[in-house]
Amino acid sequence: MINISRLEKFYRKKKRLGPVNLHVDKGEIFGLLGPNGAGKSTLLSILATVSSPSAGKVIMKGKDITEETKAVRPLIGYVPQDIALWEEMTVKENMLFWGKMVKRKKSEEQLENLCQAVQLHGKWDEKVSRLSGGMKRKLNLAVSLIHDPEILLLDEPTVGIDLQSKFEINELIQKLARDGKTIIYITHDINEITQLCTRIGVLKNGIFLFTGTLAEAGARLQQHGYTAKNETEIIFHLLKQDYSDHEPTF
Ligand SMILES: Nc1ncnc2c1ncn2[C@@H]1O[C@H](COP(=O)(O)OP(=O)(O)OP(=O)(O)O)[C@@H](O)[C@H]1O
Ligand SMILES: [Mg+2]
Repeated sequence: MINISRLEKFYRKKKRLGPVNLHVDKGEIFGLLGPNGAGKSTLLSILATVSSPSAGKVIMKGKDITEETKAVRPLIGYVPQDIALWEEMTVKENMLFWGKMVKRKKSEEQLENLCQAVQLHGKWDEKVSRLSGGMKRKLNLAVSLIHDPEILLLDEPTVGIDLQSKFEINELIQKLARDGKTIIYITHDINEITQLCTRIGVLKNGIFLFTGTLAEAGARLQQHGYTAKNETEIIFHLLKQDYSDHEPTF
């Protein structure tokens, strides 16, 4: 569904991303992890066609995202790391506004149901500026789902969201994947990495040090003489080591 080849991004002549090669299949929840500043949001914003690559190619559902941007955009639901909402409008007005923007005719009831699905209850007529941080996150996620996109690019969508709601949202994400959506999910949350993601990629200094399942990561560690006690330990080691797909250093 998503094919990335030799993707690079420079900011003021400094390379911040790449070369990145990655394939994500339909129905996957690909977890993108790595330390602050690794390039995760940079990669996602390129995939979302919000920023352009300096080099390389991304094909989504057979379409080149740079050459066929207009055709690609409707496929994508994007939750940016920074909340993108109209603060002076109500929840309802935001949903109606973004519904119009993506040119999908959705009834008010459908839009309200979407807010319920992301656990934003009883705030339909509330101004966004009066919502809590977690509630804004929920609305940001609801907005990204309005046009029923095939690809979801989610940049730390559940940061600051209460545990119960996060649990429900994770279930929703899993359901969306079962329904055939392709999801790239940035998170620093250990539970989301182990429970939600079907495969992970560890990005450091703009390149992938590892891509695969946690079981594959565990096996790789074992080949190098380290037996992890659990998945948390595997992740800890992945992040700690200078672990390369090509040249494992441990
Ligand atoms: N618009 C920009 N102009 C210049 N440099 C940028 C810009 N956006 C990001 N960078 C730099 O690119 C690098 C990667 O940033 P990015 O936001 O992708 O990291 P990240 O992995 O998402 O980190 P975090 O976990 O903190 O969100 C950082 O060094 C950052 O300073
Ligand atoms: Mg980021």
